Amino acid sequence: MANAGAKTRALAAEIVDAVANGGQSLDAALAQQEGRVLPGERSLLRMLCFGVVRNHWQLQHWIGKLIDRPLKKRDSIINALLAVGLFQLWDTRVPDHAAVSQTVEAARQLRRPQLAGLVNACMRRFGREHLVEQLGGTEEVTWNHPAWLIEALRKDWPDDVEGILEANNARAPMWLRANAKRQSAAEYQARLADEGIAADLLAGIPDAVRLREPRGVDELPGFMEGDASVQDAAAQIAARWLMTGNPSRVLDACAAPGGKSGHLLELGGEGFDLTAIDSDAQRIERVRENHERLGLNATIMVADASNPGEWWDGTPFDAILLDAPCSATGVIRRHPDIKLLRRASDSNDLSALQGAILGALWQVLAPGGRLLYVTCSVLAVENDSVVQGFLETHGDAVEDALLPNNNVRDLMRRKACGYQVLPGTAGLDGFYYACLVKKVS
Ligand SMILES: C[S@@+](CC[C@H](N)C(=O)[O-])C[C@H]1O[C@@H](n2cnc3c(N)ncnc32)[C@H](O)[C@@H]1O
Repeated sequence: MANAGAKTRALAAEIVDAVANGGQSLDAALAQQEGRVLPGERSLLRMLCFGVVRNHWQLQHWIGKLIDRPLKKRDSIINALLAVGLFQLWDTRVPDHAAVSQTVEAARQLRRPQLAGLVNACMRRFGREHLVEQLGGTEEVTWNHPAWLIEALRKDWPDDVEGILEANNARAPMWLRANAKRQSAAEYQARLADEGIAADLLAGIPDAVRLREPRGVDELPGFMEGDASVQDAAAQIAARWLMTGNPSRVLDACAAPGGKSGHLLELGGEGFDLTAIDSDAQRIERVRENHERLGLNATIMVADASNPGEWWDGTPFDAILLDAPCSATGVIRRHPDIKLLRRASDSNDLSALQGAILGALWQVLAPGGRLLYVTCSVLAVENDSVVQGFLETHGDAVEDALLPNNNVRDLMRRKACGYQVLPGTAGLDGFYYACLVKKVS
């Protein structure tokens, strides 16, 4: 089809503009627009959008050098298109001539024919002036992160900050979780090998299988039948940990889209009773879909975890998983838009919400029961600060620092209370874990 390439660039610019200037999440913007691109162009569209958002500060720095006057606000779409254009020249295998001609044509498709010349001139100057070799600029440009986040990471992780920033800018590997009800991770690895798909296991995370190259789920043996799920191995620590106590009545208090609740069901034995709640009615549909694919059942409810009075039936839970809403600063490599969408003040608001949910759920935990507090944040204010504050005000709570196995210890950093997996460690996402036990009076 004529100009399919230009259409892909135009769509990429619309998506990037929706994220950078419209405050939309990259996943939501992609989901809205992906249907408009030809199936053969879909992976190019994703690659461009993720790459541009991931490298936002660097690309904006170059655009600033290339244009004499900033573009008008109403032409922010052309700023996004320029970023898409430069990213192709800098970090993709798209031949330069195709990148330039299709990006220029995209300016026309975006109804900005008067700016097509500017796009053309900028892209040609970019190559001529060897801007790629002239790195530098502010710390934001060097690390492609907002200054507030670099500062926050430096405060919490003075010795690790550069490693975290680098890991955040890398592409995440694809991890699977073998369904323990059907086979072991090693058995699933062998099934993958039969299909010519190379994969590795990781000591300490028993169900995890890491693909050497990402694949579409339709290529994975038994995926549609629930033999495996896509889930980062750091997220898989949760269910194994909570299940070490062999609980029979369990609450997953922030369950959507259902990754960890599916894992809990896979590990649960006869009579295992899981209640999965989430306050987001749309997202909870994903929990139903995920459980259906696995062929497993839980009681699923739209409910506010901070207000059990509205939904709790009065029977205490043996174990609770609180995978709390958080800044998601541990999963930036999978969601680079977090760098653009989050604000410095978010973490304090989240910390208050996390503390409120934790306090409310404590009331529905049985004496002797365990609550696993989890976030995919790397910021202390949402992690050990929340748990420490809780322990100081709840005399019936103690931390159980015993990890589910010895190998997982190598993947985690001990905090004042709880443990942190830093992003990039053994190819994992960043997660925080703290296990709390309710004393029997
Ligand atoms: C990190 S996600 C959970 C991911 C999920 N555990 C998984 O493994 O797939 C956090 C979830 O908390 C939910 N949430 C936020 N506030 C909540 C509340 N007050 N009560 C229940 N769920 C809430 C969000 O809708 C979101 O789905």
